[in-house]
Amino acid sequence: MLLNSVQGEMALRVLVIGSGAREHALVWALARSGERPELFVTPGNPGIWELARPLEIPPQEHRELARFCRLERIRLVVVGPEQPLSEGIADVLRDAGSAVFGPSKAAAQLEASKAFAKGFMERYGIPTARYRVFTRRDAEAARRYVEAHPLPVVLKASGLAAGKGVTVATTRQEALESLEALLEGAFGEAAETFVVEEFLAGEELSVLALCDGERFCLPPPARDYKRALEGDRGKNTGGMGAYAPVPIPEQLRQRIQQRIIAPAVQGMAREGTPFVGCLYAGLMLVGEEPYVLEFNVRFGDPEAQVVLPSVEVDWLELLGSAAEGRLRAGELQATRSACCVVLASQGYPDAPQTGARISGVDAAAAMPDVLVFHAGTRFENGALWSAGGRVLSVVGLGQTLQQARQRAYEAVERIAFEGMMYRRDIAAQR
Ligand code: AMP
Ligand code: GLY
Repeated sequence: MLLNSVQGEMALRVLVIGSGAREHALVWALARSGERPELFVTPGNPGIWELARPLEIPPQEHRELARFCRLERIRLVVVGPEQPLSEGIADVLRDAGSAVFGPSKAAAQLEASKAFAKGFMERYGIPTARYRVFTRRDAEAARRYVEAHPLPVVLKASGLAAGKGVTVATTRQEALESLEALLEGAFGEAAETFVVEEFLAGEELSVLALCDGERFCLPPPARDYKRALEGDRGKNTGGMGAYAPVPIPEQLRQRIQQRIIAPAVQGMAREGTPFVGCLYAGLMLVGEEPYVLEFNVRFGDPEAQVVLPSVEVDWLELLGSAAEGRLRAGELQATRSACCVVLASQGYPDAPQTGARISGVDAAAAMPDVLVFHAGTRFENGALWSAGGRVLSVVGLGQTLQQARQRAYEAVERIAFEGMMYRRDIAAQR
């Protein structure tokens, strides 16, 4: 039985933390459970509030949230974003007795500290780009290292920088300039420590693993599109679109499982910081060999928007069993394809212009095999307005990826707001 408790007449109560399209997708997936859960959210967004009750307590108030969870008998908390995880929200809620899908502060270091993640991969033989870690105090050594490093070279702020702390430098000048930016504190605390690493060329793949501290279960892999412009040009963003499943050969699937996910889960357990939640491995496939570019400690955004709908399974049971340490290890097969197109505001990612009136969301969401997940939206005076860089995630579903893609773009055509930007090449055949 789900979440091993006597529920009596009361619906099972679940709290989701976060406010993006990823959290909208999570709430949507949880709401479909046969358990008919009662859903709560903080802070949420107008799309999420149609499915989950908003709390007055903001996500940063960990102790208040713990009190609420105890009083209101919240059985499961699902934490969407990395920030509260790296601040220890899961520890506080777990101490107060809630089951939490999301890693402890110590385990969240896999994302919050790239220097930690690199050392961890080295300790467990997980393939990753060769690297050196520097602190700002090592300025001279870092300059010499970057000066002599073959091009392209990759520089990364070690701490959380919302996807903006990475530079792939193709010229020496660019490399040295981005090094100076790191040294001068362009990313503040996040760049107190930084990583310089070798460039890997290949195809990227996002692999999510649901983990209960010891065991893991793999949904189908996804591909996301990080650059702002078509043809993978322009700035790195949080993600402009995604699709799932990405078909991969059986041998590669096994390699990823055996060389990356299994040692990572076992390594974290061995170090006394077992990983509970969604471990996200951002991979570069160099020929047949998968290398880890980064670990994240939560569902990807927009990967969640395609992975969750692509597998028709009881996600509440699954996330609950991971949070309670009784996950059934294995693989989840996709039952359909999903393609997500992100609608962003003009100026994203640098300086998004918000406050535009959005039309057509209801019409798009009413189309068969279409889901519209909200991210940066605001409801006011009877209308929906843009309120962030990434505004909506439009997802098409289909038996084939081409069908899913077509539905997503048909739905996108119904939606409009001033300055709306999106990529037309998500899941396009290359
Ligand atoms: P990260 O946040 O570490 O995943 O880096 C963001 C993006 O930068 C990745 O999705 C890649 O496209 C690119 N990137 C990061 N590290 C490397 C690398 N070592 N070689 C090539 N591209 C990289
Ligand atoms: N889509 C990349 C990420 O969520 O980090």
